[in-house]
Amino acid sequence: MDSQRESWGSRFGFVMAAAGSAVGLGNVWRFPYITGDNGGGAFLLIYLAIVAGFGLPLVIAEIVLGRTAQRNPVGAFRLLGGRAWPAVGYLGVLTGFVILSFYVVVAGWTLAYIGFMARGLLSTGPQALGADFGRFIGGGSAIAYATAFMALTAFVVASGIGKGIERANKLLMPALFVLLLILLARAVTLPGAADGLRFFLVPDFSRVTGATFSAALSQAFFSLSLGMGCMVTYGSYLRSRERIASASGMVVGLDVLAAILAGLVVLPVVFAFGFDPGQGPGLTFVTLPAVFASMPLGQLFGVLFFLLLAIAALTSAVSILEPAVSLLVDERGLSRTAAAWACAAVALALGIPASLSFGAWAGFTLFGKTFFDLLDFAATSVMMPLGALLTAVFVGWFWAAPAARALSNDGELRQPWAPAWGAVLRFVAPPALAWILLLSIGLI
Ligand code: TRP
Repeated sequence: MDSQRESWGSRFGFVMAAAGSAVGLGNVWRFPYITGDNGGGAFLLIYLAIVAGFGLPLVIAEIVLGRTAQRNPVGAFRLLGGRAWPAVGYLGVLTGFVILSFYVVVAGWTLAYIGFMARGLLSTGPQALGADFGRFIGGGSAIAYATAFMALTAFVVASGIGKGIERANKLLMPALFVLLLILLARAVTLPGAADGLRFFLVPDFSRVTGATFSAALSQAFFSLSLGMGCMVTYGSYLRSRERIASASGMVVGLDVLAAILAGLVVLPVVFAFGFDPGQGPGLTFVTLPAVFASMPLGQLFGVLFFLLLAIAALTSAVSILEPAVSLLVDERGLSRTAAAWACAAVALALGIPASLSFGAWAGFTLFGKTFFDLLDFAATSVMMPLGALLTAVFVGWFWAAPAARALSNDGELRQPWAPAWGAVLRFVAPPALAWILLLSIGLI
């Protein structure tokens, strides 16, 4: 195999990078409001069951695929599957561009809010904060922040695997957990926090419907960075003797931990100040600044919170860009630097209209969705579940024996869970994914 190919410097570096990919806006921004929307504790339980029973096996499958092939997703499917399978890799790379384009828009907001908090620029009442938020995301400066964020992402990716992505993650991931713990200590000691804790931790099954399961399933996928070759690509920089199952377990564990910590920060704060937990995407950007404004040392905590969000977003954005870059480097012979900046420019070109769809272009809609919503819907409701479905079918049905052998490099085939892993990929994941796919495109 190509001895020139870059690889992670250490097992810790790989785990931090993969966890950095997983832990992102999905955990800190999306998870608390989706949980709030879906009734709290019961959603949390269902989410945990889905992640363990179904997310973890797919994380392992993607990483095994990448490590065995030592190639980008397109190359991996070509090498191990041949025939039409490389199309799954191309679908993943394309999905990456779509996700990245709207991801950097929200990531740009987090960058801006660090500054707003630090300079005390936001209003105080929740009404005025909603207006501040609306005005900001619809304006031109939001585009500037998205551009700045994209440049940061491209810079890290251009710096390489060991010196760029791994180094950044080894620094930023521990910092993120420290910040989460500091904020947690503040949130749970607020007067009135107990109601939020009860909402988050005590299940109320009367609120569970079919939609709760599909929301938990798509949240789990988005959060674990599945379905677009992200984990395939990160796995491809692993040396062959690394124990994949335990590393995957750690990545999934850290991802769940970050989501729970974020829930423990956001929901008590929301309840302590009497806000509605089911108010959707504005939950962190509108509610939390109001809270910080009326809390001792709130400005400091506010800066820390948005810094945390920006860090989480950066380590994820880097991983969304990497599959396309690795394709161009492996197969088109581009330099890493050229590939990183070129792909970033393309994704930004899609991101700008997405950002404008909160302002000047809000009137342009298709199927009742703005451009931002369309990108989000296409990627997370259609392309990712489809990619994950095809990956599970490939590893479970077409590549099953070699996949098991690839795991057994480390004697892991003899682990009692190996048959269950295969069974999930064959029998559980494909129908479940087909179900959310059909559900989200409105066919059932
Ligand atoms: N998991 C990240 C988050 O929670 C986002 C992300 C990174 C992602 N890579 C991905 C989502 C690949 C889907 C596919 O924010």
